[in-house]
Amino acid sequence: MVTKNVLMTILKNILDAIDEGIHVIDKNGFTILYNHAMAELEGMKVDEVLGHKFLSVFPDLDYQTSTLLQVLQTEKPILDQSQTYLNKQKKKIMTINSTIPLYVNNQKIGAVEIAKNITRIKDLSDEIMRLQQTISKPVYRSDGKIPRYTFEDLKGQSPGFQKAIKMAKRAAKTSSSVLVYGETGTGKELFVQGIHYNSSRGKNPFIAQNCAAFPESLLESILFGTTKGSFTGAVDRPGIFEQANGGTILLDEINSMGLQLQAKLLRVLQEGYVRRVGGLKDIPIDVRIIATTNEDPQSLLEYGKIRKDLYYRINVVNVTIPPLRERKDDIPLLTDYFITKFNDRLDLTVAGVTDQCLRAFTLYPWPGNVRELENAIEGAMNLSLGEKWLDEDCFPDYVFREAEKKFAETQNNLHISLDEFLDLNEVMEKVETTYIKKAMLSSSGNISQAAQRLGIKRQTLQHKLKKYRLEH
Ligand SMILES: Nc1ncnc2c1ncn2[C@@H]1O[C@H](COP(=O)(O)OP(=O)(O)OP(=O)(O)O)[C@@H](O)[C@H]1O
Ligand SMILES: [Mg+2]
Repeated sequence: MVTKNVLMTILKNILDAIDEGIHVIDKNGFTILYNHAMAELEGMKVDEVLGHKFLSVFPDLDYQTSTLLQVLQTEKPILDQSQTYLNKQKKKIMTINSTIPLYVNNQKIGAVEIAKNITRIKDLSDEIMRLQQTISKPVYRSDGKIPRYTFEDLKGQSPGFQKAIKMAKRAAKTSSSVLVYGETGTGKELFVQGIHYNSSRGKNPFIAQNCAAFPESLLESILFGTTKGSFTGAVDRPGIFEQANGGTILLDEINSMGLQLQAKLLRVLQEGYVRRVGGLKDIPIDVRIIATTNEDPQSLLEYGKIRKDLYYRINVVNVTIPPLRERKDDIPLLTDYFITKFNDRLDLTVAGVTDQCLRAFTLYPWPGNVRELENAIEGAMNLSLGEKWLDEDCFPDYVFREAEKKFAETQNNLHISLDEFLDLNEVMEKVETTYIKKAMLSSSGNISQAAQRLGIKRQTLQHKLKKYRLEH
């Protein structure tokens, strides 16, 4: 059995080993426990406080301003409260405090304050915000310092892509919110810039903010700004809503934003006012929101990753960019476009890719979409040794391995056994899909050419591609 004295020694040892500051006063306001961490925070010596009456050690405080005395009086705990103060050594300290009343046999015997020092964390988060606002967050302005894209930079003729362009051009004529959905590398950012620079806001700021890059509380400060003394910001700093006033904010990867912040964002959009974190003033704002997601909006709703109300507020105009594997028509065109681009940039005279390469390109699924195609071509041209036509050797092996796999699939799927009775429609369907796939393949995804090979009209082929859900 350990004695009380031993227990007390153990307690003192523990208190001095932990990072949290601990201060316990008895019901008469005398300090009965005070650890080193608390002494360091407050710029005191343990002996100056331990055993002394609280108010005689801290004469500037009273029952209103001291949380310990307040809790002793009211018996109501104060949890997770942030405090900023200058300590005895005139050092600025920020803490998160919890203060709770203490009881023995239902009798109040005192109160304890537990303080976590967050000064360093706070400094770091301030520094991140400062860097974010000066360097990492691209601020696109009409001064041309950062690449600006317009609709002319967006290449593609396939119907799905053209529909997306049509929607984006319509959106540019309005100030409505827009949700752009597309897999990674499909050109979402280009679309968003296209909308901004073609809109009446085009001469005003365009600010892009990635919602996945920061924890929620920091993102909130970045969006809405901070007020002096508030937990997340030591200085008055406008958020990007204020900075982009009159212009457009791109909220990239909105699907990564936490649900609580989504609710706050919705309020700002509905009310047209922003309130800085820790502030009291409502600041009127006029910004257009364009959000992007690389996950299907329907599944975001289904899995509760986006609030329904926010979704309907933002999805006023919907631009859906099909992945490259679903618009293979565009592959030859984009290939030529990027070859021209890198011929200029690298001072080369490459004429194109070989037919065999192009065929593989139309079979490969391009998980990184247009960005992946562009990078593959840039890589190949960097490695080129003056050849006119880029062939298989210039591109990564996996492109051709994947393409071969796909090719094998299209070759072997016509198995019609005359022994089993199949519905004639099913037989026709099998034959049609197999021949259509072959024709599309040998014409590198060009619908007009494939239709010619099959001896049918382009529209008929388009109809069948849709009917059989064949990727093209
Ligand atoms: N239709 C297109 N025409 C020309 N270039 C394109 C097109 N689509 C994409 N690109 C090229 O691909 C690159 C990637 O596009 P972007 O950054 O807009 O993709 P994203 O959809 O925003 O991708 P992520 O989800 O990864 O952010 C662009 O820098 C551009 O060079
Ligand atoms: Mg992007």
